[in-house]
This record gives sequence, C-alpha cells and structure tokens, in this order.
Amino acid sequence: MQIKQWMGALAALIIIPVSASAADTMDGKALYQASCAKCHGPTGEVSAYGKSLKPFPARNHRAIAKLISRDEMRRIITYGVKGTAMTPKKYALDALQIEEVIDYIRTFDYTPSLANGKHRFLEVCSSCHGKDGRAQTGVGARNLVYTKLNLSEIVHTMRYGRPGTLMISKRHQMSNTDIADVATYVNSLRYLANPANGKKLYASKCSACHATPGDIKVIGNAAVSRSIADLSDRLLDLRIRHGRHVDRAGKKVEKLPSDSIRDIMAYMRADIN
Ligand code: HEC
Ligand code: HEC
Ligand code: HEC
Repeated sequence: MQIKQWMGALAALIIIPVSASAADTMDGKALYQASCAKCHGPTGEVSAYGKSLKPFPARNHRAIAKLISRDEMRRIITYGVKGTAMTPKKYALDALQIEEVIDYIRTFDYTPSLANGKHRFLEVCSSCHGKDGRAQTGVGARNLVYTKLNLSEIVHTMRYGRPGTLMISKRHQMSNTDIADVATYVNSLRYLANPANGKKLYASKCSACHATPGDIKVIGNAAVSRSIADLSDRLLDLRIRHGRHVDRAGKKVEKLPSDSIRDIMAYMRADIN
C-alpha cells in the first residue's frame, strides 16, 4: 500500500505538468487572440472597438512591433498604461505567457512609407527641427541629420519626448503608423560621414599646420583631462570652428561646411585610433 501510494504520487507529479498542455497556455498567437485582439485587432491593426476607446484608443502593434524594445512592451503589458483601457495584464497572464505574446506581436510586419513620413515630419516636426532636419531654428532642437540615435531610439524619443524640453511626447498626438513612418524618414536624413573625403580635406586644409591629427592638442581647461580622441563630435566640431587656431594661426583657418567638418572628424578619429 505504501508503494502504491508512492507510485500514485509519482504519477501525479509526472502527469500534472504534462496535462497542463503546452499548446493552450504557451501559444502566443492564441493568447493574443484571446486577450488582446478585442482592442488591438486580430491582425494588430486595432479593432473598431479599440478605436472607440476613451480617453485614448488602442494602438496599432503592427507598425511598431519591431521598433519598440521588448522591455518597453513587457512593462506596458505587465503594468498597463495608467488612466487608459490598457489595464495591467499580470493577473491574466504569467511572466512566460507575456513573453510568448511579445514574441507573437514581434512577428507582425510593417513597411513604412517615407512619403508619409516626410509629409508628417514637415507638419509636426519641422517648426523646431527645420525642414531639412538640421534644426537651424534657434529653439534648441537637435540636428537630426547628425543624431547618434538608432531607429528604435528615435521612436523612443518621439513616443516619450525629453522631459523639461520642448521635445514633448508625441504618443497621443500621432498614430503608430505615423510614428514609424516619420522615424524611418528621420533615420533616412542621417548624414553618413565619409572618412576618405575627410582625409583629402585634411590634407588640403589642415596638414600645413598639423601634420597628422595625432599632433593636435586640446587647448584650454579641457586639455587637463582630454585629448582630441576624448571629445564628443559636438565638442570637436566646436573646437574646429571656434578653437584657438581660428584667430591665432597667423592666417585664419578656412571656414568649412558642416558636412565637410563631419568628414574630417571621421578621418581624424580613424587616424588617431
Ligand atoms: C480593453 C482594450 C485593450 C485590451 C484587451 C488590450 N489593450 Fe493594449 N492598449 C489598449 C489601449 C487603449 C492602449 C493605449 C494606451 C495609451 O494610450 O498609452 C494600449 C496600449 C498597448 C501597448 C502600447 C502600444 C503603444 O504603441 O503605445 C501595448 C504593447 C499593448 N497595449 C499590448 C497589449 C497586449 C499584449 C494585450 C493582450 C495581452 C493588450 N494590449 C490588451 C487597450 C487594450
Ligand atoms: C516644439 C519644438 C519641437 C518639435 C515640434 C519637435 N521637437 Fe524633437 N526636439 C526638440 C528639442 C528642443 C530637442 C532637444 C531635447 C534635448 O535637449 O534633449 C529635440 C530632440 C529630438 C530628438 C533627439 C535627437 C538626439 O540626437 O538626441 C529626436 C529624435 C527628435 N527630437 C525628433 C522629433 C520628431 C520626429 C518630431 C516630430 C514628430 C519632433 N522632434 C518635434 C524640439 C522639438
Ligand atoms: C594656419 C595653421 C592652421 C591650420 C590651417 C589649421 N590649424 Fe588647427 N590649430 C592651429 C593652431 C596654431 C592651433 C593652436 C595650437 C596651440 O595654441 O597650441 C590649432 C588648434 C587646433 C585644434 C585644437 C583647438 C582647441 O581649441 O582645442 C584643433 C581641433 C584643430 N586645430 C584642428 C584643425 C583642423 C581640423 C584643421 C583643418 C580644417 C586645422 N586645425 C587647420 C593652426 C592651424
């Protein structure tokens, strides 16, 4: 009898996990259709009901499925968005199920429209960032052509803004398709520095006074702790434009277009390293 009981317990141990069938608790698609599709739509493009929600409609997953981080999705799904119909799902789904749903959402595809991105950029962003994205508008917006942010980070900045600056969150002002389109457009404005051109420019504009980039020393208080290699692009750019050589080199250093300075800096960095 002892053995029989023991065998029974053992059987239960083996059977219980198996009987909680993997198929119905861990299929991200099934979980999505059961708990999310009502608002976000069966294909991730928001249902009619989802569009009618107040104060904010449900959002299109398809457009941003690959553009927002797993961490951000997990946080929103787990804890919800306060004050909206997106309630926390941590009571309905366990941690692993949430990962399965995220995996499923991330299979959604979207092809952004650069034409719409440009159109919306001119409408919503250009007043501060300029029509060309170079932000020569005098309000402290960033030059997007030289941004170091990748596509996802551009999306993140658009969604949440930068607290304390004019760059406010656009999440409730723009749809996810517009956000994806504009971010892709902004990403396409990026200036790709050309070190080979920089090398030529350096040889003709700089090498008469600094034989190699390695010869250049930082001037001023920063010199105590920094070399050229430690300066950010912005600080190095400023030193090339406004540094001591501009006034003290005997004859003034030629003023160069900012893209040329980017090329020179790319060459200088490659040469120093
Ligand atoms: C009752 C309707 C409803 C259901 C059900 C629902 N959501 Fe939402 N969801 C919303 C709304 C409304 C928002 C927009 C919140 C906001 O404005 O920030 C949202 C936002 C989100 C976001 C952020 C999207 C973005 O672009 O900001 C994610 C991710 C998300 N939901 C995932 C899910 C997942 C996964 C499920 C199922 C497990 C789910 N939602 C179920 C209504 C719903
Ligand atoms: C009202 C002015 C204003 C508008 C409109 C605006 N921005 Fe900005 N944006 C700013 C400011 C100011 C900053 C710099 C914030 C800081 O100092 O960190 C900024 C920063 C950014 C950055 C960060 C760049 C970087 O390299 O760090 C991105 C990306 C960006 N904006 C994209 C956009 C997009 C896309 C739009 C349109 C949907 C937009 N902004 C609309 C003012 C604006
Ligand atoms: C006519 C000579 C001359 C030319 C041409 C010249 N420089 Fe200089 N540069 C100087 C002198 C002089 C200094 C200051 C050195 C000192 O005071 O020790 C300097 C300093 C610098 C500094 C450090 C500035 C600071 O404030 O820390 C940088 C960076 C620099 N040059 C880059 C360049 C680049 C890039 C070019 C080509 C676009 C260039 N220079 C062309 C003479 C020149």
